[in-house]
Amino acid sequence: MAIQRIAVLTSGGDSPGMNAAIRAVVRTGLARGLEVYGVRHGYQGLVDGEFVPMDSVSVSDMIQRGGTGLFTARSKDFMTEEGFRRALMMLESFKIDGLILRGALDLAQNGIAVAGLPGTIDNDLAYTDYTIGFDTAVNTAVSAIGNLRDTSSAHGMVTIVELMGRHCGDIALFAGIASGGDIIVVPEKEYDMDDICRQVVEGRNAGKLHCLIIVAEGAPFSCTEIKEAIQERTGMERRITVLGHVQRGGSPSAFDRLLASRLGAYGVDALAEGKKAIAVGIRNNEIFDMDLAEALEMKRPERTELIRLGEILR
Ligand code: F6P
Repeated sequence: MAIQRIAVLTSGGDSPGMNAAIRAVVRTGLARGLEVYGVRHGYQGLVDGEFVPMDSVSVSDMIQRGGTGLFTARSKDFMTEEGFRRALMMLESFKIDGLILRGALDLAQNGIAVAGLPGTIDNDLAYTDYTIGFDTAVNTAVSAIGNLRDTSSAHGMVTIVELMGRHCGDIALFAGIASGGDIIVVPEKEYDMDDICRQVVEGRNAGKLHCLIIVAEGAPFSCTEIKEAIQERTGMERRITVLGHVQRGGSPSAFDRLLASRLGAYGVDALAEGKKAIAVGIRNNEIFDMDLAEALEMKRPERTELIRLGEILR
């Protein structure tokens, strides 16, 4: 039987563009004659039955906002057998046949049609070229690094900036290259602290006014380790700035708004056409879907070209 009622929820860390995705899901669903519900507070809201009916106006004035209007949560309850069963019961009692959210393989395996959208600033999902929020986070980082560059060169300082990315260096790599960073340290590569310190000294000897070191959160060396090594080996003035959750907020870039709108609309269309357990992504500027389980198993692409570019252009 064709689906009649879908629900949308946001989960995990929020990312700029999630609201644009919710809006696209709601309006595409309504345009297809479906009933659309929002689930508040992510998977916890599924367990607690926080379902709210959505209409076109409920997603007005939203496309430009950061955060998520449906709120999000990291739910421990949903991970338990009891919580998971309750979530399934809630979905049944609200007669939801299709869900648009991030991940949720377990629900898909229990008969709920699921379309997963990639919403995270980290860009750490292998199956898609870009995740919703990544572009905005990179732009936020580039803007902050621009400010740091001014004060670093005024003082001839070594500035070490930590950017988010627990398991993935994409924010640091993309923002580092776009900011003209001198040294970019990411989890995808091995480093030698002697090399890092030598490059700092070489830069100074070549007449550089300052040194910008961009470090991903999950990199093999922490900012503190790098700072201490530079202090010990060069004696140069150095500061650490941790950009932190600033990167997760803010109005989404045009790229993220468009990406989120395309992914959200595609997800609803796919469910309405009878697809069951899919991940929706973008590859070579085409929106596509693939099996959710396979998508989550995929290994991320090597970043050899970008890592090399960062090293050449420094
Ligand atoms: O959203 C992903 C992410 O930004 C990671 O890069 C970071 O490590 C993590 O979230 C931190 O999130 P929280 O503080 O919510 O645990």
